[in-house]
Amino acid sequence: PNEPPMVFHWFPVIGSTITYGMDPPKFFDQNRKKHGDCFTFILLGKKTTVYVGPEGNNFILNGKIRDVNAEEIYTVLTTPVFGKDVVYDCPNAKLMEQKKFMKIALTTEAFRSYVPIISDEVRSYLKRTPDFKGQSGVVNICPKMAEITIFTASHTLQGKEIRDQFDEKLADLYHDLDMGFSPINFMLHWAPLPWNNRRDFAQRTVAKLYMDTMQRRRARGDDNQTYDMMHHLMNSTYKNGTKVPDHEIAHIMIALLMAGQHSSSSTSSWIMVRLASRPDVMEALYQEQIDNLGKDLPPLKYEDLAKLPLNQAIVKETLRLHAPIHSIMRAVKTPMPVPGTKYVIPTDHVLLAAPGVSATDDQYFPQPDKWEPARWQKEHPLAPSIVRNEEPAEEEEEKIDYGYGLVSKGSASPYLPFGAGRHRCIGENFANLQLQTITAEIVRAFKFRNVDGSDKVIGTDYASLFSRPLEPANIHWERRN
Ligand code: HEM
Repeated sequence: PNEPPMVFHWFPVIGSTITYGMDPPKFFDQNRKKHGDCFTFILLGKKTTVYVGPEGNNFILNGKIRDVNAEEIYTVLTTPVFGKDVVYDCPNAKLMEQKKFMKIALTTEAFRSYVPIISDEVRSYLKRTPDFKGQSGVVNICPKMAEITIFTASHTLQGKEIRDQFDEKLADLYHDLDMGFSPINFMLHWAPLPWNNRRDFAQRTVAKLYMDTMQRRRARGDDNQTYDMMHHLMNSTYKNGTKVPDHEIAHIMIALLMAGQHSSSSTSSWIMVRLASRPDVMEALYQEQIDNLGKDLPPLKYEDLAKLPLNQAIVKETLRLHAPIHSIMRAVKTPMPVPGTKYVIPTDHVLLAAPGVSATDDQYFPQPDKWEPARWQKEHPLAPSIVRNEEPAEEEEEKIDYGYGLVSKGSASPYLPFGAGRHRCIGENFANLQLQTITAEIVRAFKFRNVDGSDKVIGTDYASLFSRPLEPANIHWERRN
């Protein structure tokens, strides 16, 4: 009786699955206009309650552990891909410890060592890839960014030894793991279908490869100068005194690469697509490097990234319009009254947070549909209120420790591409570093434009769990000098 309004649908079970699945942001916008910020729809037979806006984000993402649960929803998809005893196949308290291990590994020293590695990977990729031979050409940018992402993420986070195997068998194995991550597997994860069999084989093979690598590293006495994640996890201990077992390290390594790969590869593709639609911004980025790093453009260092505010804003603005995770889900464990309303969300509902809705709301971002990186500078006419009023907001910001270090509750922010609360992303700083370094290198190498010279931007593919540009996303490139 006190449930939020239900979105109209013709068929039971199917409900609104199709309209939601084709274009989630449009679905949220249309229903928000009709029903307000909180409403329910049927997704694959399940009553799914959407609650958008900063209050909705806070209600769901900062929900108490006895009220909301992530692993119940995600485990069917993630456990066959990652493997047992990690992330959503263990109690939440254990995930919090695992997140702490991962977060601690991502130190400033580690980051300092990562920037030159990423730079070299990008340069060598641009040199050896046939699609970039010559002075100019046209390329579907998405598969290229996917490769650049996997080479840079694996080399930095997984170490040189694993990186080198991506040139051979590992790329195919990860592709098979990917197939397990398709939305259809929310229903068919268990089925002995060809793609699930390949997924299971790939999981076992990759996990074994990591475990063999750990044994070799242990046997030869690991090099303490290395900052990769595997090295760090091999030296981590749970609060109860046990070392992290090898199979868990292997599974965490798979989880990390999967989490980082899709989100970063989608974001970097969007960055390139957007730059092609705005050659003026690409020129401004090049000029920013000349002005702030020197005419000869010396090799990029970690410290340089902070000297490139527009380059940083490119990532921020792209994530505002193209956050790869459009829907964040939680199971409801106890009936949850929605503050300030008469609604109570029953335990047979799933909650869905969509921080992208407030990130594209003109209440917070003037001309929200416009991709304008410069808006993240305070003086810009399109600057959002969260930037214009930065100092006070920063002071009021509430921080909390769920077991993996202090994180912002984010309850007041309309901009949460990395989530908030207990399940917040631990990869934000790494992703920023990776995306900024890749962008800076690409800007040094190329001028981009749309093939027809227009400022058009391709649509979004929502068919996989992480949204990304529709393909082919063709870009015209021309080498500088
Ligand atoms: C969680 C976004 C990159 C590792 C999350 C969540 C979001 C997110 C929205 C919250 C999910 C939820 O509440 O259900 C992004 C974006 C990225 C990115 C937009 C890049 C542009 C990365 C990278 C890594 C990573 C590079 C690893 C190095 C994780 C982990 C979690 C997480 C371990 C925690 C999951 C949990 O506690 O349930 N990310 N992420 N992410 N992300 Fe990221």
